[in-house]
Amino acid sequence: MRNSLLAVACLAWSAYSLQALDNGLAKTPPMGWNSWNKIGCNVAEDSVKKAADAMVKSGMKDAGYQYIVIDDCWQVSRDEDGNIVADPQKFPSGIKALADYVHGLGLKFGIYSDAGTKTCAGRPGSRGYEFQDARTYAKWGVDYLKYDWCNTGKENAEAAYSTMRDALAKTGRPIVFSMCEWGTAKPWTWAANVGNLWRTTTDILDQWEGKGKEYGAGAITIVDMNADLADYAGPGHWNDPDMLEVGNGGMTTTEYRSHFSLWAILAAPLIAGNDLGNMQPEIAEILMNKEVIAVDQDPLGKQGRRVKHENDQDIFVKPMQDGNVAVAIVNRGKEEQTITLKWADVNFAANKSVAIRDLWQHKDLGTFTGTFAAQVPSHGTAMIRMK
Ligand code: GLA
Repeated sequence: MRNSLLAVACLAWSAYSLQALDNGLAKTPPMGWNSWNKIGCNVAEDSVKKAADAMVKSGMKDAGYQYIVIDDCWQVSRDEDGNIVADPQKFPSGIKALADYVHGLGLKFGIYSDAGTKTCAGRPGSRGYEFQDARTYAKWGVDYLKYDWCNTGKENAEAAYSTMRDALAKTGRPIVFSMCEWGTAKPWTWAANVGNLWRTTTDILDQWEGKGKEYGAGAITIVDMNADLADYAGPGHWNDPDMLEVGNGGMTTTEYRSHFSLWAILAAPLIAGNDLGNMQPEIAEILMNKEVIAVDQDPLGKQGRRVKHENDQDIFVKPMQDGNVAVAIVNRGKEEQTITLKWADVNFAANKSVAIRDLWQHKDLGTFTGTFAAQVPSHGTAMIRMK
């Protein structure tokens, strides 16, 4: 009896350990660059190398950005053995050489596939080839896989993503698993042991608000879709409200600063999507604001919560490992307004004295008791750290 109980326990344990996503990766939200938002389907070896070079030269690498990820359109076919084939025109040196180049710069390398028969751009997907593709990626030196959800028919999302998770695990190579299922099957409720991050929304559009005709949404609309999911994020498993549009031209500098502040307070992956080799100083300043990045990357790994959402005023609060509290105060309205943070919003006693630092001005603002009033421009965000 005892032995059979033990056997059952062992079986249960081995089944569990096969299931658990225990790749030790993404303890803080991944940071990097992805080709899609700027280059789309025109991605090629040269542009990826340039992005990698620029990531180092611009200071992005020093600021914490690490992954260089090729999105859709690098693949064209399968060979007679079923191996995935990269576009020989666009990637003449092959993916392995490109991964080596990226690694040579001290960066990590990522790639894209899809759980269906075809990717969203109609390239070969991984359906039925999961283990073979994972082996190929590992052989090439891939460190990050973004796995999309187009052309999946009646596939079950949890099953399909679990298959690729297991395929990646079987390679023995640590590979961050980025699930891109757009939130359709509520992956936050089941994916903590499947992926390191999961998209919670439709594709981001390079605009402040509103929805696209067919799909996509502006930054603040995406925030609304992701704002109530704080309970599901943590070290190794993050909500992903999609990549950054900062620097791509569709929003004002003030709006881009808000976009970046909000991604940081939401502990979202910070995956830049702009031309890193050609950044205006104000864009570089946003993407490399180390104090805001530190909010995103805080090791406690809490996603900020929205504590106020009324009168075109949003307030998000994120507890930090050192006991500080980061706060983002957002003006969604068309006019400048004064927005008042009350200590009750952060669960502080009203008579508590708190030192406040402004993370965009890089300035200690002094000590405040009970309330803090911020003058915030239209579509702007005041980002502070309460000590
Ligand atoms: C989907 C994804 C995007 C991008 C494209 C590529 O729309 O959500 O992030 O990967 O496919 O085709």
